Amino acid sequence: MGLGTGAAQTAYAWGGNGHAIVADIAEARLTPAAARQVADLLALEGHRTMDQVASWPDTIGHIPPDKGGAPETLPWHYVDIDVDAPAYAAADCPDRNCVVERLPELARVLGDARAPRARRLVALKWVVHLVGDIHQPLHAAERDHDKGGNMVKVSYFGETRNGHLNLHSLWDEAILEHETGLTTGPHYTIDLARARQEADILNARITPGQAAAWAPQGLPGSLDPTVTAWANESHALARDVTYADLPKTGNALGDAYDQAAWPVIQIRLEQAGVRLADVLNAALPG
Ligand code: ADE
Ligand code: ZN
Ligand code: ZN
Repeated sequence: MGLGTGAAQTAYAWGGNGHAIVADIAEARLTPAAARQVADLLALEGHRTMDQVASWPDTIGHIPPDKGGAPETLPWHYVDIDVDAPAYAAADCPDRNCVVERLPELARVLGDARAPRARRLVALKWVVHLVGDIHQPLHAAERDHDKGGNMVKVSYFGETRNGHLNLHSLWDEAILEHETGLTTGPHYTIDLARARQEADILNARITPGQAAAWAPQGLPGSLDPTVTAWANESHALARDVTYADLPKTGNALGDAYDQAAWPVIQIRLEQAGVRLADVLNAALPG
């Protein structure tokens, strides 16, 4: 879930653990030149690793502008493609205000050596975050205007987390937490060292052939169609797994759903990590 508070809040990100894992997988795959530039940018705020900033965009959306927040960025985290539509269409991105348009734009700012460094750091934090978000199937799909599953109440192994559990938060974090034992503490704090252990496990499963197949080609010139392809992958997974495997009635989910979802979540975190590294390596050449 996102970092907001309150019952009516919609979740709009992988949970903190998912974003940290994506950042860690990518970090292990940066070129020396990109790693150095990433470290230089992070140092502007006293940070050392990308996992420390990977969830920052979730902390600003629900704060008013006069308190330093940026509510206008809330739609940047997702794109609502109807699950029955064949694929992404430009109309799914009103005013270009969705992840499919924002992610390439922010990657261009990151890669612009003439842009102010503070601005490039903000762009880095967004790119790290949004490459993760766009790989979460429900960040690129909706059914019956359910806000990417946020409106779909579910129980999971008998739990509802006081009614807060929904299909979206299940895919953002509950399944990952169930499978790994990772937890999210008060104020959405996570254990970065434990998340890194899980990232190492996922990263070690990625074969060179998979990494080559997943990585976009010719960045940053072709980032726009590449990002659209990632959204379409998520949309297809939402259709074929996330929604298809729901029970016909009820939405009491457990083992069967878990066994369908967890392999997808692992692959999506791995792909996001590999692709984030590729985007950063292309944006920050030697
Ligand atoms: N709010 C509306 N649609 C959403 C989606 N697909 N993901 C996250 N938050 C949303
Ligand atoms: Zn997000
Ligand atoms: Zn989300």
